[in-house]
Amino acid sequence: MVIREQLLNRKEVDEIKRHVLATEDKVKRLGVSRYPGAGENALTGRFDIFNFFNSDIGPLLEKRIKPFLDKYNFFRPLSIQCWANTLRKDQGIKLHHHSNDWQQFYCANIFICGDQEIGTYYVKDADPEHSRNLATKKVIKKFKSVPGEIALFDCNLPHYVKSNPREDVRISIAMDIYQNTIFNNTDRYYVIK
Ligand SMILES: [Fe+2]
Repeated sequence: MVIREQLLNRKEVDEIKRHVLATEDKVKRLGVSRYPGAGENALTGRFDIFNFFNSDIGPLLEKRIKPFLDKYNFFRPLSIQCWANTLRKDQGIKLHHHSNDWQQFYCANIFICGDQEIGTYYVKDADPEHSRNLATKKVIKKFKSVPGEIALFDCNLPHYVKSNPREDVRISIAMDIYQNTIFNNTDRYYVIK
């Protein structure tokens, strides 16, 4: 299941776009990329060393995400890992899921800007009785991207983004959201009590 709803208005989307592009190089200099699935030296690969809640757009992100998570009865305290993805021409994110083997959590993506048709693909093991793709035995669902829209999903759900065919940068904000949890590494995790 993927929950999608409008989280940010156009002005807020523009503010986040400007901030991500202005700080991208600084964030990259904090450490090497630790994730190869988004290409070499990608901002995505700094997911665990810089949390965008600890930046100038942090108050805006918190103002919007808090009521959203409260609405879906997320249990506080929450620890959120938050990073940004910048995909330029011919860059995408390979099929992956965020789950680890020690804790269940939720994931969220907020689309900021770029070609809306690239979308995000979610992959689910098919029910054998209702398989739509017998070749791979997977159900693949594509959602077109909408600026400012959040997608919330379980950490076990595999997903990917096809290569960006355009010159326009595709930017999204991603989060891993842990309920009933306080992680002490505050560079990596932002706590909402
Ligand atoms: Fe992801």
